[in-house]
Amino acid sequence: MQSADPSWSDVDDYIVDHLIGEDLALDACLAANAAAGLPPIDVSFTQGRMLELLARANRAENILEIGTLGGFSAIYLARGLGDSGKLVTLELEPDYAAVARRNLDNAGQGSKVDILVGEALATLHGLVEQGRAPFDLVFVDADKQNYAAYLDYALKLARPGALLIFDNVVREGRVLEPNSDYPKVPGTRKLYEMLKNHPQLDATAIQTVGAKKWDGFLIAVVREE
Ligand code: DHB
Ligand code: MG
Repeated sequence: MQSADPSWSDVDDYIVDHLIGEDLALDACLAANAAAGLPPIDVSFTQGRMLELLARANRAENILEIGTLGGFSAIYLARGLGDSGKLVTLELEPDYAAVARRNLDNAGQGSKVDILVGEALATLHGLVEQGRAPFDLVFVDADKQNYAAYLDYALKLARPGALLIFDNVVREGRVLEPNSDYPKVPGTRKLYEMLKNHPQLDATAIQTVGAKKWDGFLIAVVREE
């Protein structure tokens, strides 16, 4: 029913109804995450679908995700991969990774996805050392304090033309607070500072409203020179 005073969330429902539709695997993923006590901080359905479409539009065959949580965004990213594509997703918490593994398998995406458990910075160091195939898309949705370090690794691991996407770069406008005591803001501001006139990256950030309130994504493309 239409509300007299539609909220961002109502509009998200309308968008999902028309453009995305019901998705039992994703509903089951969110239910399993809640049952396992994971924090409900996944991307929204509309945002997840955007990630899938960006992966597909960029013909991604290798995707890196930092911050798996219960695998909600990983399901979308895996769906955006080509048939022989691979998603590598990094998660600190073994319990979260186990939930994500079940969710990805249940969604029929498990064979495309490696979940690497541990400190992301150590795992990223390992991926660089191993000379892991360059990634076409990197999605960062983990501890904001390390966003600048994740950008450094993303640049080491991404191919020219790759898309780098960072979640939660607006935080209801708190990104403007230079001395914020909100712990997630300084790391995000450092990311913006690094991207100012960056020699290898062209970037923008898009503010979003919806089921996840007021936040945003930062999107950067590695220059091809
Ligand atoms: C938080 C983290 C996220 O990645 C997100 O999308 C929303 C909230 C958090 O840590 O509070
Ligand atoms: Mg997030």
